[in-house]
Amino acid sequence: MDFNNLLIETAAGVATLTVNRPQALNALNGEVLTELAAAFYQLEYDPAVKAVVLTGAGEKAFVAGADIKEMAAMNSYEGHQFALKGQHCMMAMEKMRTPVIAAVNGFALGGGLELALGCDFIYASEKAKLGFPEVTLGIMPGFGGTQNLARLIGKNRANELIFTGKMVTADKALAWGIVNELFPPEELLPKAQEAAAAIAGVGTLGVAYAKNAIANGLNMTKEDGFRYEASLFGVLFATADQKEGMAAFVEKRKAVFTGK
Ligand code: CAA
Repeated sequence: MDFNNLLIETAAGVATLTVNRPQALNALNGEVLTELAAAFYQLEYDPAVKAVVLTGAGEKAFVAGADIKEMAAMNSYEGHQFALKGQHCMMAMEKMRTPVIAAVNGFALGGGLELALGCDFIYASEKAKLGFPEVTLGIMPGFGGTQNLARLIGKNRANELIFTGKMVTADKALAWGIVNELFPPEELLPKAQEAAAAIAGVGTLGVAYAKNAIANGLNMTKEDGFRYEASLFGVLFATADQKEGMAAFVEKRKAVFTGK
């Protein structure tokens, strides 16, 4: 499928998905959201893709938010629909079996930070700036940010970030646990692709089920989560990957996983 605002490059099991609208700092308008949802679907069902890196085009921004120029004319109904459309993208990433790593190469603001938070984990450039400026526009985060940020870093830090609308440095985002690791700008994409390649090289089903157990378990009691984990663990013993992974260990050779 051809996209007007996205680039996709796939190599050795890793797809690099780039939001490519640098003239608007990669802001998310309705068309970009439609394309992102389609791209996630396409990547999820592409057997050549085992992990995805999501980044922004240009040196300045990952994504500078939802498109303010498009939102400026929206009425309440349209605003609601726009939020649902953005949330659909975030949920699509959460529901994908394929892990998605955010490589935050610059500004990740508002809907841009929400896009990064929708990924499975975040690497960032040392020069990145992150924040939720929505309140400075008279609105609030609408693409899952209030939910994902509070779950990730806790209520009080999420409150501070969202209520003040102030940007934080990459260092602070690291200290607060929003970002897993920081890299010099030129190393960010290769490092994210390296992590994705590591994921692409292990048992695809084990990764997919672990992702499912973590995401769903967060909404369960601990006891239910344990039960759910054990069920998925058991299912993996019916897979070729489990047979191959353990045989390779015993035979002291590298496993060749098929994702079956
Ligand atoms: N929407 C639409 N266009 C945007 C944009 C956005 N979120 N962010 C930047 N742009 C556009 C600018 O309008 C500008 O276009 P023109 O040259 O045509 O005027 C171009 O990108 C370059 O931006 P700047 O000239 O502003 O660049 P800068 O370096 O001076 O500033 C910035 C960079 C601090 C990131 C600034 O662009 C900015 O504050 N952007 C808006 C950030 C923001 O408020 N994001 C939250 C949006 S609300 C949201 O996301 C809601 C939600 O939760 C769903």
